[in-house]
Amino acid sequence: PKIIYIDADGGEFEAEVEVGSNVMQGAVDHMIDGIVGECGGVMACATCHCYVDPSWEDKLPKPDEAEEDMLDVVQEPQDNSRLSCQIEVTEALDGLIVHLPKSQF
Ligand code: FES
Repeated sequence: PKIIYIDADGGEFEAEVEVGSNVMQGAVDHMIDGIVGECGGVMACATCHCYVDPSWEDKLPKPDEAEEDMLDVVQEPQDNSRLSCQIEVTEALDGLIVHLPKSQF
């Protein structure tokens, strides 16, 4: 499936990400700036914060409680904030659009 990452300056990057991988890993593998993923996806860093495009918000499972707790510490949280390492890539997410924050720190 193809994931579309849009950075804070409007730059758009497309990446082909494997099913079973996650949106953080896809960005890191394709060297997309804006997602750091320091902890490798174990929900310990929150440097994989992203904003799910409004057109996709309803199509994703809601964050669990542990993720919500981590989202409390990100810069500029919004209602559509997610940790991208917790968004598992499935065929249904082909074309998913996520927006990247200005900074992860
Ligand atoms: Fe660390 Fe997502 S990569 S919380």
